[in-house]
Amino acid sequence: MNVLLVGSGGREHALAWRLAQSPLLDRLYAAPGNPGIAEHAECVAIAGTDQAALLAFCREHDVRFVVVGPEQPLVEGLADTLREAGIAVFGPSAAAAQLEGSKGFTKDLCQRADIPTAGYVRVTSLEAARNALGTFGLPVVIKADGLAAGKGVTIASSPQEADAALAALFDGPGAEAVIEEFLTGEEASLFVLTDGTSYLPFGSAQDHKRVGDGDVGPNTGGMGAYSPARVLTPELEQLAIDTIVRPTIEKLAEEGMPYSGVLYAGLMLTPLGPKLIEYNARFGDPECQVLMMRLESDLLEVMLATAEGRLAGHKVRFSDDPALTVVVAARGYPGTPAAGGAITGIDTAEAHGARVFQAGTRRDGEALVASGGRVLTVTATGPSVREAQAAAYRAVDRIAFADGFCRRDIGWREIAREEG
Ligand code: AMP
Ligand code: GLY
Repeated sequence: MNVLLVGSGGREHALAWRLAQSPLLDRLYAAPGNPGIAEHAECVAIAGTDQAALLAFCREHDVRFVVVGPEQPLVEGLADTLREAGIAVFGPSAAAAQLEGSKGFTKDLCQRADIPTAGYVRVTSLEAARNALGTFGLPVVIKADGLAAGKGVTIASSPQEADAALAALFDGPGAEAVIEEFLTGEEASLFVLTDGTSYLPFGSAQDHKRVGDGDVGPNTGGMGAYSPARVLTPELEQLAIDTIVRPTIEKLAEEGMPYSGVLYAGLMLTPLGPKLIEYNARFGDPECQVLMMRLESDLLEVMLATAEGRLAGHKVRFSDDPALTVVVAARGYPGTPAAGGAITGIDTAEAHGARVFQAGTRRDGEALVASGGRVLTVTATGPSVREAQAAAYRAVDRIAFADGFCRRDIGWREIAREEG
């Protein structure tokens, strides 16, 4: 079978690496891909947002299955376009992808299905927002409604800060926001494959969203992750599935927008049990890299079963050994990153079993150079998170990338527990 993978980040590099190992695969294409993905797939210069070109490519190259990595094409309806043309897709319809595309949609769904989440109001004007603010304590959480690449959330500790965030948000026309109760606890991410009816838990992870060691500084797309997130015990995972994930899948199906693909639940483990912070309609980046490191089953087979509504009875195996990934970003990230910095030493870094998944890279002649904020995700496994961390940083230290930086404490919560 010929498969097309849509996307160009570290997540897609990890997916390409696993898809390429499947005995079901004939040819793997990637649009647009990156130099790392090019080691496993033939890259074609088509953007994930160019639905017509992607569909034409599938027809010309006998592509029967498309795996969509990032959220933007899903929210825009790429899966609908391809399915209407008879092509199987891993990834939800535009209607179901609203779970990620609209915070208000998700909060309203939680309310209709009685799913535990932070108390909230949806607002469409600055005046309404200011009026609603008084009903919340501090800190208060303010979110832009639509896709914001992790940058649309403000946790305001004072009324002034809240007001400033709202004023910025309602600066233009057509803005919409959600104001939320602040939840306390530890965060964990749960991944579940679903074909709209059946579901299959697909691992957990913990991300590190702030740019600096000790979780300080601005939010990013994620600076590192490890899997599994043991803080999400088997009991808590079951509780999250029973109270959050399954009711979501059932409600969406009941309302005529069945969800097909991977559902990524961002959870807050509160003293009252798991509560939903947000849904994403795709794998996390860099959480996908640690899941793929641990996955022992055929990725293409389970993705196809998901897309074709055959998930019931499927099982997958993950290694018990934890995996940990460190993001190497370009200086300046999450602001404007330094572009063009040369990268060498990936082969040496990979010589002892670590995998360097490429995110923002491009070829400049023979050289590999940086071309984005998050540039590499350096991933390793070990018998403990501490050992996986040591292996990942040994690999990071073999890479020469003068313009790069990384956090040095990925996995710190779990390592404190392991050693505590
Ligand atoms: P989101 O884009 O919804 O994942 O929000 C980004 C980050 O903001 C989350 O990972 C949390 O750390 C934090 N956050 C979002 N909503 C809440 C909330 N209601 N209470 C506490 N923290 C939150
Ligand atoms: N690492 C967070 C995300 O992919 O949304």
